[in-house]
Amino acid sequence: MFEECTKVDALVEILNRQHGAVPDVLVVLGSGWKDRASGLLEDTDVLDLRGLDNWPSPKVQGHGSELVLGQLRDSGARIGMCSGRVHAYEGYSAAELVRGVRAMVRWGAKNVLLLNAAGSLSEERPAGSLMPFTDHINMSLPNPLQQGQNCGLGAEFMDLVDLYDPEWRAELLKRRPELVPGVYAGLSGPCYETPAEVRMLVKLGANAVGMSTIPEAIAAKSAGARVMAISMLTNLAAGIGGSRPNHQEVLDTATANSAVAAEVLEAALRSVVDERLN
Ligand code: HPA
Repeated sequence: MFEECTKVDALVEILNRQHGAVPDVLVVLGSGWKDRASGLLEDTDVLDLRGLDNWPSPKVQGHGSELVLGQLRDSGARIGMCSGRVHAYEGYSAAELVRGVRAMVRWGAKNVLLLNAAGSLSEERPAGSLMPFTDHINMSLPNPLQQGQNCGLGAEFMDLVDLYDPEWRAELLKRRPELVPGVYAGLSGPCYETPAEVRMLVKLGANAVGMSTIPEAIAAKSAGARVMAISMLTNLAAGIGGSRPNHQEVLDTATANSAVAAEVLEAALRSVVDERLN
């Protein structure tokens, strides 16, 4: 069997053995989202992911290494929240970037909600805005469906129309009509974009730019899950309004907006579990 598959299956086996009930929704928190997220859950059970063989661990400040499993308050829904993700710029392969998501979906999670921090490509979306994805433009992030990266399969020619589930997004927008959805452009980083790249991304029709999420979304959909993603726009991208992005600004904006982020996260979870989209 392809080696990647063996690693994913070994993780599924551990999750099954140690944690019984499969979550209805897997959330990958990313920068900006984790501060208050686990407060949405009760009866929690916390797994330190650094202790799991083959679970790639984040090396970046702002990303944790825990999987919190619990019930969404006042709901029968079971949720798994990963407090961090790994990035291509940390040197991980496409298969490693998505291994955790693949394991959780193979374990049985039917819905995957991917959260991140991103730069805004317009002053009309100021720092602190939250943007559900309508679509993405993959500029330079690795693809987990490539031969050698795809668990158990060869190269997979999957259609990505409606990758970010329109029904789930519509339910979220009913609950949070102030949110303005948009297109996310993904670059490998870790340096921020040049102002010329930012002007290009605006011309291409992107609304936000970041360094993650796209590989996980593709892998989750390929594994059969319903996918949604939301960015917290933590800064104006390079050159917009004279901006020079820096990591501290990203972390500070994330902290300052963690209360509203938790509210939107809760609305996104209730949108999929209360509406019984699954
Ligand atoms: N560019 C890319 N990634 C980011 C940014 C940005 O401006 N802000 C947060 N993540």
